[in-house]
Amino acid sequence: MTTATDAAFTPVTIGRYRARNRIVMAPMTRNRANDTVPTPLMAQYYGQRASAGLIITEGTQPSAIGQGYPATPGLHTAEQVGGWKLVADAVHAAGGLVFAQLMHAGRIGHPDVYPEHTEVAGALPVGPSAVAATGSVFTGRGMAEFPTPRALSADGVQDTVAEFAAAARAAIDAGLDGVEIHAANGYLLHQFLSTNANRRTDTWGGDVAGRISFTVAVAQAVADEIGADRVGLRISPANPFNDIVEDGHRETYLALVAALEPLALAYLHVAETTDPGLTPLLRKAWSGVLVLNPAEQTAAEHLSVIQDGAADLVSFATKFLANPDLVARLRTGAPLNTPDRPTFYGGDHRGYTDYPSADHPGADHPSAAPVA
Ligand SMILES: Cc1cc2nc3c(=O)[nH]c(=O)nc-3n(C[C@H](O)[C@H](O)[C@H](O)COP(=O)(O)O)c2cc1C
Repeated sequence: MTTATDAAFTPVTIGRYRARNRIVMAPMTRNRANDTVPTPLMAQYYGQRASAGLIITEGTQPSAIGQGYPATPGLHTAEQVGGWKLVADAVHAAGGLVFAQLMHAGRIGHPDVYPEHTEVAGALPVGPSAVAATGSVFTGRGMAEFPTPRALSADGVQDTVAEFAAAARAAIDAGLDGVEIHAANGYLLHQFLSTNANRRTDTWGGDVAGRISFTVAVAQAVADEIGADRVGLRISPANPFNDIVEDGHRETYLALVAALEPLALAYLHVAETTDPGLTPLLRKAWSGVLVLNPAEQTAAEHLSVIQDGAADLVSFATKFLANPDLVARLRTGAPLNTPDRPTFYGGDHRGYTDYPSADHPGADHPSAAPVA
């Protein structure tokens, strides 16, 4: 009999690649870039986690104005490409696969977040419409209210699509294996999908077809640039994070998936939040590879989605953060380290590369105590 654990350890084809198991490291922003350039410490962090079937990196801005938080990496300068080469090399040296998550924060940005030396320092973020998110953001100088963004012009929308394609090319130049387009969690693509942040009356807004069109255009442009078999896309239907409202979200996401279907992307990544009941409908509507970040929390529940056929791969965020050797631990049922929340965003190697693994016990780490 195949157990849930066995099922998760069978290889699987993702686009042009063969992943050695079905356990994915979900994207996680860690705010440890040097300004916006990936560092040797980041390469070590990803290298430690290379036994994942696929690593999806932290959200990475395709342009300076796409930055959402301090010390997040970009993929739009030669220096950033040089930094990402270190990450690609470290993951490949350990036999892993790594896709960069392309994340444009849109209205979830702030004039104080853009580094002083960039041409966008002090500028307002951009969004589908001039509608501010309710809430506040950490800018590096403290918390600040979200500003009202500048609505992208029609040319600005096209330029942004082109920036995604250029960033995807830069990812490949850096030796990364592909990209994941971030259309989840209230950032720019999700803002276009929503009914509250997108108030446009042109072809990029209005009805379902209008609201999905920006995400489809980005996916098409990125697929044309580097090949659809190196491109994944992440959605989080009905996730209210970052002040998103989605009236009629099921209709929106089923239409989106139907429109993406002909592109033959490497995978669709569904982050389940408030409507897990939609996942089986998306599974049916999508003939390609499905990566699921399930709303259920336990590792055993996560793994069972593979055996149940609910998804082809399963992604873990916080468990991968705290367990560099998560794959081995899931395989043997070994206890997991506790994630140390205060070190999630920013800081140094502590809470980043010093989580103990079977090879590196690192008993000085506060989170070394296993979860009972
Ligand atoms: C520290 C941290 C940073 C995150 N950053 C991102 C990100 O950059 N992009 C993204 O799509 N999701 C991000 N997420 C969401 C995770 O990918 C994931 O969907 C969520 O944590 C739920 O999965 P889990 O229960 O396995 O932690 C982040 C989560 C955490 C904890």
